[in-house]
Amino acid sequence: MPPSAVIVVDLFQRHNSSGWRHGLSRRPPAACYDLGMAFPVHRPRRLRRTELLRSFVRETRLSPESFVYPLFVCPGTGVKQEISAMPGNYRFSVDRVIEECREAAGLGIPAVLLFGLPESKDEAGSGAYDDDGIVQRAARAIKREVPGLMVITDVCLCEYTSHGHCGRIADGDVDNDSTLELIARTAVSQARAGADIVAPSDMMDGRVAAIRSALDAAGLANIPILSYAAKYASVFYGPFREAADSAPQFGDRRSYQMDPANQREAMREVALDIEEGADMVMIKPAMPYLDVICRVRQQFNVPVAAYQVSGEFSMIVAAARLGWLDGTRAMMESLVAIRRAGADLILTYFAKQAAKLL
Ligand code: PBG
Repeated sequence: MPPSAVIVVDLFQRHNSSGWRHGLSRRPPAACYDLGMAFPVHRPRRLRRTELLRSFVRETRLSPESFVYPLFVCPGTGVKQEISAMPGNYRFSVDRVIEECREAAGLGIPAVLLFGLPESKDEAGSGAYDDDGIVQRAARAIKREVPGLMVITDVCLCEYTSHGHCGRIADGDVDNDSTLELIARTAVSQARAGADIVAPSDMMDGRVAAIRSALDAAGLANIPILSYAAKYASVFYGPFREAADSAPQFGDRRSYQMDPANQREAMREVALDIEEGADMVMIKPAMPYLDVICRVRQQFNVPVAAYQVSGEFSMIVAAARLGWLDGTRAMMESLVAIRRAGADLILTYFAKQAAKLL
């Protein structure tokens, strides 16, 4: 008996013992056919011989159409200040962010994600829902100057609060229910300023429902919500917190962002967000959570986004600078892996760089 036949028998038995019984169907599971004949008939290397063949049978393709490029907007004019922990990424004043957006649009990137650095911060994060706030001004300018580009706004308070948390503080913790109103106001204000899509990242319970009803009441029923549904309390946000000056001044975010050990809980978060009205859901970070992306893609039928966060970006860039990795190949491999896991959309600081190669 050739070795392959042994595998077939084994698969049969396992299948039968788990409830797939005689008489129901005489057909073996599909996988058996693939294992039916092995070497020398089967030589998977045949399809890897040339780049033409490899690209012919490639299962996953990257395209700039599925990229979202995150940008940081700050006060002032003429500002383009590099973020030291994220080389090649900048804080732009509103006037300078326009040229960056034009370049992104020219490369075929359909959307940017805006984060704001306000002039001043306060307890209640009022800069987030100020109609003349930094993100609102940037959204208006981008929609006017680069109308072909979609503006997605990050809906959160952490960049705007003096304490750096994503919501209102009560008794030393972030108070869920009183934060909802502020989050909803932020989303409405951003959408009125021209945001095409709002993306809540605060992780308060019930925020998608609060945003949906506030948008609808404001006559903004057509604005989609991309929820950061499964957002983990991750160390990989480190460089972002320098970029957005949003590190919590006390404690951490573990009472609202998810425990990295949990996958089933992500399914629950995604289900709840969809029930509340999320049009698209996001998993964040991306590469350490490919299993979550894969399972969400299989279980739900809304578009799935994955955020390759600042730390994922900076690790690759740092290793490349040290000569330890080929940075370009690491970038492309990480992006293709995120897509292969099931992400329809990828938010990435590599958007421009990768788009240039595609
Ligand atoms: C705001 C927010 C964060 C990120 C996106 N939105 C920071 C955080 O939750 O601490 C991180 C993005 C990145 O690391 O690239 N809540």
